Amino acid sequence: MQNPPRWVSTNGDVDRPNVARLFDYYLGGAHNFAVDREFAEQSMNHIPTAAMVQHTRAFLRRAVRLCVANGIRQFLDLGSGIPTAGNVHEVAQQADPTCRVVYVDNDPVTVAHSRTMLRDNAGAAIAEADIRDGDAVLSAPEVRGLLDLSQPVAVLMVAILPYVAEADRPAELVGRYRDAIADGSYLVISHLTGDEQPEMVEKLVSVATETMTPIVARSKSDIEAMLTGFDLLEPGLVLATSWRGEGEPETGAEAVSYGAVGVKRPNG
Ligand SMILES: C[S@@+](CC[C@H](N)C(=O)[O-])C[C@H]1O[C@@H](n2cnc3c(N)ncnc32)[C@H](O)[C@@H]1O
Repeated sequence: MQNPPRWVSTNGDVDRPNVARLFDYYLGGAHNFAVDREFAEQSMNHIPTAAMVQHTRAFLRRAVRLCVANGIRQFLDLGSGIPTAGNVHEVAQQADPTCRVVYVDNDPVTVAHSRTMLRDNAGAAIAEADIRDGDAVLSAPEVRGLLDLSQPVAVLMVAILPYVAEADRPAELVGRYRDAIADGSYLVISHLTGDEQPEMVEKLVSVATETMTPIVARSKSDIEAMLTGFDLLEPGLVLATSWRGEGEPETGAEAVSYGAVGVKRPNG
């Protein structure tokens, strides 16, 4: 193999498809390898994976714009993936260049890509940490350096909680972050569900086991349990495509994720 490009980490993880690079490919980015592209193309023969990822990203953008419109200027994006075109810092800083964004990911390849992409942006950084370790995330130098958690912040958990197994208590994990942020802070959440498209989502879950990161789909009531202490903005917890989206969802890729945006209640 030729020397890898310099945004590639050298820990050898270039031979298996990687979820962050798959997302990058589905979103039209250039930070992916042949192994990712082949896997992505094969999976798209069975499941509309690219459309699913694009819908999630569109929800993310709508939610970030709303946060900025409501006065939020700092963002903590947990399980951020590669900040491919149209990601949080671009959307937020386009709306207000003073916005500060800290991405968090535990995948060294993703972190290496992201550091290179963000190196000229004084208001954005990535921390390498496992989101299941709230203490490690909240004390990371990038978080402490760029964010003031005594002031409202938006915590983004978009397409990340499916990577947190039941054994790691996802609802308690969300609560760990809720307890660390100021009243009036926002939570943006999206989560894979098999409620509407069980067969398609089952296939997706099975395909994901072939990547490095298995996933879990959850029901609406499981996801509601993660939102304790937050007042949900209209329209509440709904299919992410319906969350202030254009038009009603049809069936298929439009109906595999719930999305919601909540505001932390005083003493929530
Ligand atoms: C499906 S991507 C989602 C990316 C982004 N949030 C979005 O919506 O486009 C999931 C990302 O979470 C990361 N990830 C998975 N488990 C994690 C964990 N325990 N801690 C930190 N990052 C994690 C993966 O490396 C991957 O980059």
